[in-house]
Amino acid sequence: PVLVVDFGAQYAQLIARRVREAGVYSEIVPHSITAAEVAAKNPAGIVLSGGPSSVYEPGSPSLDPGILALGLPVMGICYGFQVMAQQLGGEVAQTGRREYGATTMTVHGDGGALLAEQPPTQTTWMSHGDSVARAPEGFTVLASTADTPVAAFADDERKLYGVQWHPEVKHSEYGQRVLENFLHRAAGIPADWNSGNVIAEQVERIRAQIGDARVICGLSGGVDSAVAAALVHEAVGDQLVCVFVDHGLLRADERRQVEEDYVAATGIRLVTVDAREQFLTALAGVTEPETKRKIIGREFIRTFEQAAADLVAEAADEGGSIDFLVQGTLYPDIVESGHGSGTATIKSHHNVGGLPDDLQFALVEPLRALFKDEVRAIGRELGLPAEIVNRQPFPGPGLGIRIIGEVTQERLDLLREADAIVRAELTAAGLDAEIWQCPVVLLADVRSVGVQGDGRTYGHPIVLRPVSSEDAMTADWTRLPYDVLARISNRITNEVAGVNRVVLDVTSKPPGTIEWE
Ligand code: XMP
Repeated sequence: PVLVVDFGAQYAQLIARRVREAGVYSEIVPHSITAAEVAAKNPAGIVLSGGPSSVYEPGSPSLDPGILALGLPVMGICYGFQVMAQQLGGEVAQTGRREYGATTMTVHGDGGALLAEQPPTQTTWMSHGDSVARAPEGFTVLASTADTPVAAFADDERKLYGVQWHPEVKHSEYGQRVLENFLHRAAGIPADWNSGNVIAEQVERIRAQIGDARVICGLSGGVDSAVAAALVHEAVGDQLVCVFVDHGLLRADERRQVEEDYVAATGIRLVTVDAREQFLTALAGVTEPETKRKIIGREFIRTFEQAAADLVAEAADEGGSIDFLVQGTLYPDIVESGHGSGTATIKSHHNVGGLPDDLQFALVEPLRALFKDEVRAIGRELGLPAEIVNRQPFPGPGLGIRIIGEVTQERLDLLREADAIVRAELTAAGLDAEIWQCPVVLLADVRSVGVQGDGRTYGHPIVLRPVSSEDAMTADWTRLPYDVLARISNRITNEVAGVNRVVLDVTSKPPGTIEWE
């Protein structure tokens, strides 16, 4: 792989994506990684990310100097560029001037391998305080801006490169070209990572892990578990049985879609478990979001255990217990549950941080290293129908984390009704492709006064949370047309008893998250 060293910026995610878009598999690692750990991963190259700090700040993230001496191709970006300059004997100056936003950059000469075949002046996206004042010994300066004499440098001999701007953001006109030049021209890494290869590799791995044992997959109706199941089915065929848990936190019509459409599309054997009582009982009285998530994660596993035991009992002659559980866990789930590279727990995704400690299953997670759009590409490649592959994300804990307050049957019914209206209107307006997803949230513990017909109402608000995103790691609120919002608001307040207001969430991520809990 190419390792993306994370200096604490959200940019590391984006860099990893862009590297993959260039056809090279990438993984994010914390900046605390040692040279020996890097060497053990046998990477083809390294990218040092940007970061929020100044190299002069006490406690600012550092890099094991041994890493730059491993003889691997390295490209530093922004803060990573400055760390390189400093470690290799160049000079980083606190100029007190900040360069922020779109900045014109001038390429020196032919730009070398890194800036080859690019216009001599171009727009780049900058965000830095300190600047590299002098490149280290042996480096050639490749570019500059009005404020920054050393905006890019290269040492072709040692295959060390750096740029002050952010090539990973779309505002940098030729950014992707810079990354591709580093990967393909400078480092000589071929572009051979694609969905076909991922499938072949994962099928191998799954076979090696499972052998001829039986395996169950928790199917949620979402893209991730659907693709994970299809991949495992490709690998081990009928050793796989899918288990769909109706936990009562589903949206309208979801159960039917899974039971009919998914099975029709894949021919995979499916067992549905009605666990509505069980989940509702477990969630009674609970309002704290992380507690809810942990309870839901635990109940999912308990349900899978029971389903596995039932399957074993039903076919006693087919041999022993079922010890493998397939989950459609994605890379962002792991990162946000705090299991990534030195990252904080934002929220415990039910299938990662929400797992009980006494988990009996060995997990099979073939999508663990992937982002959603990559999973969709694999689903397409495996022949899953567009309705499944293009489905908007819906979290495993479902409506349980969209009721702010205690989860009760009555509140679930109410939210389900409001959610169905929102989905129907967005689809009717042709907006599905534009929206990443649109959580509909019930503020169950908030009430406000309204007037309807001749009387006073004292009802709950419904929040609309339409977001646009590339991978759910960051998101912006979608600017929905006013007339669509008006129609949704009218319908919900008229049709859903107990709701007298509809409000719009206009917060990006960060600082908000997509779901409210
Ligand atoms: P947040 O709220 O963290 O959501 O911005 C990011 C994406 O993840 C989905 N999500 C989950 N999916 N289990 C899931 O399967 C979970 O526990 C979970 N929590 C959040 C969320 O819908 C969004 O797409």
